[in-house]
Amino acid sequence: MERYGGPVVDVGSGGGSPGIPLAAALPQREVTLLDAQQRRCDFLRRWAPPNARVVHGRAEEQPLEQWGVALAKALAQPPVAAEWCLPLVRTGGAAILWLGESADLERVASVSARLGGGPPEPHDGLLVLPKLGPTPAGFPRRPGVAKRRPLA
Ligand SMILES: C[S@@+](CC[C@H](N)C(=O)[O-])C[C@H]1O[C@@H](n2cnc3c(N)ncnc32)[C@H](O)[C@@H]1O
Repeated sequence: MERYGGPVVDVGSGGGSPGIPLAAALPQREVTLLDAQQRRCDFLRRWAPPNARVVHGRAEEQPLEQWGVALAKALAQPPVAAEWCLPLVRTGGAAILWLGESADLERVASVSARLGGGPPEPHDGLLVLPKLGPTPAGFPRRPGVAKRRPLA
């Protein structure tokens, strides 16, 4: 996290993991807790520390390249999570995905390359996708499309 400055977004924050503990541990960082479900956002608003704000909405509909880091834990299959997270991150930042054991790094690498990202860097169960350049035209795709027709 120290390698990548700027605001942080926890995409699909749900019950606040990892965004709430992270915001509490890094009170000087601005943290956005983003979730598509109103019920989850109501819960997040009750527990968010002062440096965290809650946004109700889908990743695919957020302003592009506003954050230094986008985090996702248990959001979706890793290629889909990568497609949702990378457009939110500015050049020089990174998307960081929590990985299951079965994650296919080649598929994630292929999605990352399509979205201005670099090769995935595994670190202790996390996968760091550095954002090397701007999000190409045509992304993000419309809500739901990444899941129905994954890029890889
Ligand atoms: C399985 S929960 C994981 C919650 C939390 N990150 C955790 O690890 O406990 C996935 C969450 O992602 C949210 N979600 C799914 N698709 C999303 C999208 N496209 N944009 C924003 N949130 C989304 C869901 O509403 C749900 O709260």
